[in-house]
Amino acid sequence: GDNVLYLAHRHGIDLEGACEASLACSTCHVYVNFECYDKLPEPDEREDDMLDMAPMLQENSRLGCQII
Ligand code: FES
Repeated sequence: GDNVLYLAHRHGIDLEGACEASLACSTCHVYVNFECYDKLPEPDEREDDMLDMAPMLQENSRLGCQII
């Protein structure tokens, strides 16, 4: 689908996505600019759990494959 991970790949942006959007990794970790961050639906619990394992976690961290 058209999640951020997919779009990044389509546009030649080198974002990893080891588990192919199945919420089993945190390699698609991205920082979302705050204006956009506030407009996104909250991450669900599974995304939050995975984000907790992402290195360099920030307030505006999300998993790219979960942003639609
Ligand atoms: Fe693994 Fe996004 S690609 S959680």
